[in-house]
Amino acid sequence: MINLGILISGRGSNMESILNFLKSEVTSVCPKVVISSKSEAEGVKKASALGIPTMIVSMELKGWDYDKELVSILQKYDVNPENGLVCLAGYMRLLSPEFVVKYKMRIMNIHPSLLPSFPGLNSQKKAYDYGVKVTGCTVHFVDEGLDSGPIIAQKQVPVLDSDTYETLSERILQQEHILYPYCIKLFSEDKLVVKGRRVIVTL
Ligand code: GRF
Repeated sequence: MINLGILISGRGSNMESILNFLKSEVTSVCPKVVISSKSEAEGVKKASALGIPTMIVSMELKGWDYDKELVSILQKYDVNPENGLVCLAGYMRLLSPEFVVKYKMRIMNIHPSLLPSFPGLNSQKKAYDYGVKVTGCTVHFVDEGLDSGPIIAQKQVPVLDSDTYETLSERILQQEHILYPYCIKLFSEDKLVVKGRRVIVTL
């Protein structure tokens, strides 16, 4: 069984899609806790409504000092480096190297572009303004860099001539909601083999 911790900062739609997926499918993933870096995050209410314990870590600490609080909560809920998976879902803080090393290749993130294009914030807008014809979303393992860890899976989304930045973002988000649960399931079935930067899916 994989014990899942989800870190959020805002709306929490990816978190919600993961939790709904885990409710409706038979998997070996057990959602244990949702931790928010913001007390007012919409996602906190959504997680509670779905019956998952929520915690807020909004203190003014930086780096590992902050992340130590995360580790102690995760461990309290039995999300450990041996049995756990930590999913970032709209989590707006960079993890410290210490945290990344502790949960090595057991932290995933979802990003709204086809990485390595358009890392960082406002990726949908950057892609739209750049004029790309295809964009999408990426689920990747988290390393010490910004959106730079080994890529697990990607989904393409075509940019239509009729698109606004908002309609494009919405279609990307729909794909995110499909891709993230799929990757978590693969992880729980031990089907992801990391070889350097390459993640091989052994179906
Ligand atoms: C998503 O677009 C995700 O790709 C990015 O942050 C956004 C979070 O949205 N990392 P939500 O909080 O899951 O609704």
